[in-house]
Amino acid sequence: MKLLVRGGKVIDPANDFCQAADILIDSGKISAVGQNLKANGAEVIDAKNKLVLPGLIDMHVHLREPGLEAKETIASGTRAAARGGFTSVACMPNTNPVVDNQALVEFINSRAASDGVVNVFPIGAITKGSAGSELAEIGDMKSAGAVAISDDGRPVMNAQVMRLAMEYAKMFNLPVISHCEDIDLAANGVMHEGYFSTVFGLKGISRLAEEVMVARDIMLAELTGTKVHIAHISTAGSVELVRMAKKKGLNVTAEATPHHFTLTAEAVGGYDTGTKVNPPLRGADDIRAVKEGLGDGTIDVIATDHAPHTVEEKDVEYNYAPFGIVGLETAVGLAFKELVNPGLLTVEELVRKMSVNPARILGLPKGHLGVGADADITIVDPGLREVVDVQRFASKGKNSPFGGWELKGLPTVVIVGGRVVMQDRELV
Ligand code: DOR
Ligand code: ZN
Repeated sequence: MKLLVRGGKVIDPANDFCQAADILIDSGKISAVGQNLKANGAEVIDAKNKLVLPGLIDMHVHLREPGLEAKETIASGTRAAARGGFTSVACMPNTNPVVDNQALVEFINSRAASDGVVNVFPIGAITKGSAGSELAEIGDMKSAGAVAISDDGRPVMNAQVMRLAMEYAKMFNLPVISHCEDIDLAANGVMHEGYFSTVFGLKGISRLAEEVMVARDIMLAELTGTKVHIAHISTAGSVELVRMAKKKGLNVTAEATPHHFTLTAEAVGGYDTGTKVNPPLRGADDIRAVKEGLGDGTIDVIATDHAPHTVEEKDVEYNYAPFGIVGLETAVGLAFKELVNPGLLTVEELVRKMSVNPARILGLPKGHLGVGADADITIVDPGLREVVDVQRFASKGKNSPFGGWELKGLPTVVIVGGRVVMQDRELV
């Protein structure tokens, strides 16, 4: 089981190594990195003119199993991840039942082992049933392999419950991933509150619905000393709050999604429910602030919040459609389009946000290409163009507002634990 990735530009910021090199893989691990390595019977992958990156990690994915298999399964979701260039995903617990105990974490791990084509790291719930009142079995879930806790999809509205959750999480050295939304302020809105919600006649969700919770959770992070990660940051005010928290030296990190740095609320214009997402697509100033936050290091991670739903669920009036956009298969292309190709981020910085930092935040021994590391590798062709065709998605979810967009800069090979799982944009 030997593989030689030959002649690519290796970009491994964790090891301060960014140059043309070959990578030899043996028995699932990286066994050598250097010039003119001998194949010695290894299968050769030609990476000439390509970028060879540590396997990308998406720390915010909804795989929908158990219970919501019509939307996605571990089999289909991990295939979507592979097509999108990811070698690892962390999956959110808002399944049916909610992943709030050891047995369900074990179920996901065993399903991932039998059906998955990329690594899957389960995230456990903060509260039982993610109902927001009683703490879940946090320690037990950690022993079973949970890498973080989150009630994503819903906020923990009770601040005392969140405080206790953070205190427990700290004992188990688990990060708390916060879905920041004040439900009362969100007031059953369906899109960003502003000019376009008025014009389109849809109920708005104010920036404040997010920002008051970002502020609260930063304060709780300060009080408890717990690692707090702000999910899907969408407003300029939230970015500024995280920037201040970091200046203070708090253990606070944040992520942004490709849809939030690409589209504004104007995209809701055709009432395409593919644009309905929580938090909602915001204003041009917010996009500018999110991009600035990505550029100056305030926002540590790009994560997709891949949220598949069935065609039937989404094919209703805007008010009745569920929130969510599928992101795995467009993330790399959108990151190149919006961030790398215009010169906002270098490829090295992108690798930090899509591999190094998610690994560090979740405590995964991944995110680099040193000798001895797991052979998780993503190869990207920065010149490859493709028009997004949602029908070609490996995901069961087709709910993307990016169908028909031409993207340039796409993953062409994905290697997981030394096995090629995607090649030339097709699953192997
Ligand atoms: O748009 C969203 N969809 N936002 C969330 O927070 C949850 C997610 C889902 O589970 O569908
Ligand atoms: Zn969320």
